[in-house]
Amino acid sequence: MPDIIRLNYANCMKDLVGENGIAAEELKVLESKVAEARKSIMEQKVAGKLGFMELPYNRGLAKKIADTARTMSKKFENFVVIGIGGSALGNIALQQALRHPQWNLLPRKGRKGGLRLFVPDNVDPDVLAGLMDVIDARKTVFNVISKSGTTAECIANYFVLRNLLEKKVGKKAKDHIIITTDASKGYLRELAAKEGIVNFEVPGNVGGRFSVMSPVGLVSAAFTGIDIKELLAGAADMNERCATDRLSENPAALYAVLQFLFYWQKRPISVMMPYSNALYGVADWYRQLWAESLGKKADRGGNSVFLGPTPVKALGATDQHSQVQLYIEGPQDKVITFLSVEKFNNAVKIPKFGDHYLGGRSLNELLKAEEEATRLALTSEGRPNLTVTLPKISPYTVGQLLYMLELATAYAGEFFNLNAFDQPGVELGKQLTYALMGRAGFEDRKKEVEAQLAKTKVQSYLV
Ligand code: PA5
Repeated sequence: MPDIIRLNYANCMKDLVGENGIAAEELKVLESKVAEARKSIMEQKVAGKLGFMELPYNRGLAKKIADTARTMSKKFENFVVIGIGGSALGNIALQQALRHPQWNLLPRKGRKGGLRLFVPDNVDPDVLAGLMDVIDARKTVFNVISKSGTTAECIANYFVLRNLLEKKVGKKAKDHIIITTDASKGYLRELAAKEGIVNFEVPGNVGGRFSVMSPVGLVSAAFTGIDIKELLAGAADMNERCATDRLSENPAALYAVLQFLFYWQKRPISVMMPYSNALYGVADWYRQLWAESLGKKADRGGNSVFLGPTPVKALGATDQHSQVQLYIEGPQDKVITFLSVEKFNNAVKIPKFGDHYLGGRSLNELLKAEEEATRLALTSEGRPNLTVTLPKISPYTVGQLLYMLELATAYAGEFFNLNAFDQPGVELGKQLTYALMGRAGFEDRKKEVEAQLAKTKVQSYLV
């Protein structure tokens, strides 16, 4: 019997959280919208617009990636992902979920030949300098990932690290690089062709935040020894499970419906709270997926409306001592999604200490009790919450979870009636950065930016 993830939404319903909950009739009404939404999603898929739905079935590519990893890993110790946003967060989520929590500190034998993984996901100079202090470039693979092939953060880090590499290995630098980018355009594609660098493609119809099951996420996962075939199998099985208009049988649609209904019931904040450190990276990945896809200015008959739930991440039990007070007694503006794990990889016994009540129990029991306690406290205070349970954390269950959230995002886009697959706000930020950094072709933008900056620097507002 395969390990199937489950979504329990009882604590979202009026029966359990009173007037703050959803009535069974409201879900019934939405059932017809699910059929419409699924039809639209399937039409877009057939039109080749939703490439993320095809990724779980690309087993040939997974084999090619696994073969590359097997051969190259033998010669190296470290793997650095140079990318940002959708070109880094999936890599971090997979690593955190599916590898030892102290992976980079394990000896090679403990890593079964998998490489240490570093994903700076920023251009903070201290982070890059710190990374260069600890890695031996001669034993390192650098995976430069950018769908556009032009993002300033990615290219800048690449230049910095390439320089380091050339100083250490000279002309052999290109043998240490893997490029993951668009099939035909962008600076990185030209570079790969010019230097004959090992490379993979990001399909044109797969956006950054939907790309974790493409080479963007799979290459680093394979180099750390994650079973990427199982990851894709989990995603494919979730896709098949969601191939129904029946809301009660389609977890992706159901997740989106619940979030959508709560949004319009004045709960714009969507908290994802794993009771497992391993899944905290998934909450971070989801934060980008949900925010960038659904935070949109939409046109409604010539008027702009500003839409989008605000995703927040929290960690159980850690945030019981930080955020949970706010969730239980603060404004009634949130819906909480717990990520729960039935069976952890380890069981840690608490030794007996006199007749202390904790002695003889386990950390597993304590964490479970904390999760249950928080769920009960929220529910008894009329705070809607739902729980996604993974029987255990494995490539197969994580594949299901990530894919369910991707598909839920597509459903939410349909319900909110907005384009979940573009990111004009991100693009604006990128263009202004290009202008400020003097990229050719952005001279007019630069003048606008400078005029704007001059306004904001008025001294009288400076304390
Ligand atoms: O999801 C997205 O589209 C973005 O977050 C991108 O992933 C991010 O901006 C990086 O873009 P690129 O992969 O083109 O460098």
